[in-house]
Amino acid sequence: MLPTVAWKNNTAVMIDQRRLPGQEVYINCKNYRQVVDCIKTLAVRGAPAIGVAAAYGTALAVLRAKSRDKTKFYKEVAFAIEELRQSRPTAVNLFWALDRMTAKIIALYKLSLPEIKKQIVKEARLIEKQDILINTRMAKNGAKLLRKGSTVMTICNTGVLATAGVGTAFGVLNEAHKQGRKISVVACETRPLLQGSRLTAWELKRAGIPFRLITDNMSCYIMSKGLIQGVIAGADRITANGDTANKIGTYMLAVLAKNFKIPFYICAPTSTIDITLSSGKLIPIEERKAEEVTGLQGVKTAPDKIKVYNPAFDVTPHELITGIITEKGVIRPPFTGKLKKLFAK
Ligand code: MRU
Repeated sequence: MLPTVAWKNNTAVMIDQRRLPGQEVYINCKNYRQVVDCIKTLAVRGAPAIGVAAAYGTALAVLRAKSRDKTKFYKEVAFAIEELRQSRPTAVNLFWALDRMTAKIIALYKLSLPEIKKQIVKEARLIEKQDILINTRMAKNGAKLLRKGSTVMTICNTGVLATAGVGTAFGVLNEAHKQGRKISVVACETRPLLQGSRLTAWELKRAGIPFRLITDNMSCYIMSKGLIQGVIAGADRITANGDTANKIGTYMLAVLAKNFKIPFYICAPTSTIDITLSSGKLIPIEERKAEEVTGLQGVKTAPDKIKVYNPAFDVTPHELITGIITEKGVIRPPFTGKLKKLFAK
């Protein structure tokens, strides 16, 4: 299997996550518009993977730009970056990667166009490489928090498919397993798009980690039976006070974990922290189309022409979070000052 998002022969290659676990199909993006489409339709998904895809989308925009005049070239690229920005609203890694690529493009202004193109591809590849390293660090930092022999609940997909490396929350589970901590996992299926059953179960099985799959509405019962000793989830955006946007259903698990006195951890790279937002109330939450709720994998499960709610994410208030695992260490409450400190130059 190739990495989730990779650069090969001047194209961005992505595994099509919509078709997993049934089919292992790769999409070769030759231009940035194909990357926009992959992000919008969740062919590529998961906050860090979206960031890497956006960096490669920018590299494609730069490589394929038609203008020879530098001012026009910069305008063309800026237009493409704006389109990439509009692809999904919640995961801040998208904007983080695009801001970093933009800053690099601006810094290279004095160079020749062929040199700018070369440097921009290099920068995008560096984002991918750094994400791999960051994942490994988070996994090591988080694994020691999981008690030997414990069963840990997780939601959505936060593994190899959601990042360039071993994953965020999934990376922690995988590391604890590799260290022989004898953990097992309970994975929530994650309706409506089943990232838990389609993707996480696929990854857990491949990694040989003992696990059970549940539907999301079983989580309370399973916790009430004393079967869970920890909950760990990823993040799409963490604000300065520690409020955390993640896949819809995460907030529910955090409330339950509090009720049953189970530690609740978030694992995310610092590129997922949006220090410019003071609280989770300011995070834009993506609303997706009704068909995702009224059907399942192309099969209708509800009557036609009905109204639905379909928010793709929720925001877990910081009070419910036991700790935030990052590549720079584990942050415990109160989060505000400590998160700000991570960004202090
Ligand atoms: O809609 P998705 O599948 O992109 O949502 C992904 C999640 O919510 C993940 O938990 C989050 O991005 C962290 S992944 C490392």
